[in-house]
Amino acid sequence: MQNIRNAGTEEVQAICGGSLSCATCHVYIDDVPAGAELPPRSRDEEDLLDASDHLEENSRLSCQLVFGPALDGVRVTIAPED
Ligand code: FES
Repeated sequence: MQNIRNAGTEEVQAICGGSLSCATCHVYIDDVPAGAELPPRSRDEEDLLDASDHLEENSRLSCQLVFGPALDGVRVTIAPED
């Protein structure tokens, strides 16, 4: 989430600042680099995503994804606003 915002993309509002209470950082994971793996969704992340009208199989809350070298090259699409 922070990387997206630092890139100047204002579509990710991230109203709660990453405290897992708003879901305004919803993204779709389009592509993950070979050999990289995203952590599974937590129960709280699942609950927030379930409330979205735009939930997809590849939905994630970007504030819950810790970016590191293994995810360099990950591609995401910002989900429509609920
Ligand atoms: S920024 Fe609020 S849940 Fe991600």
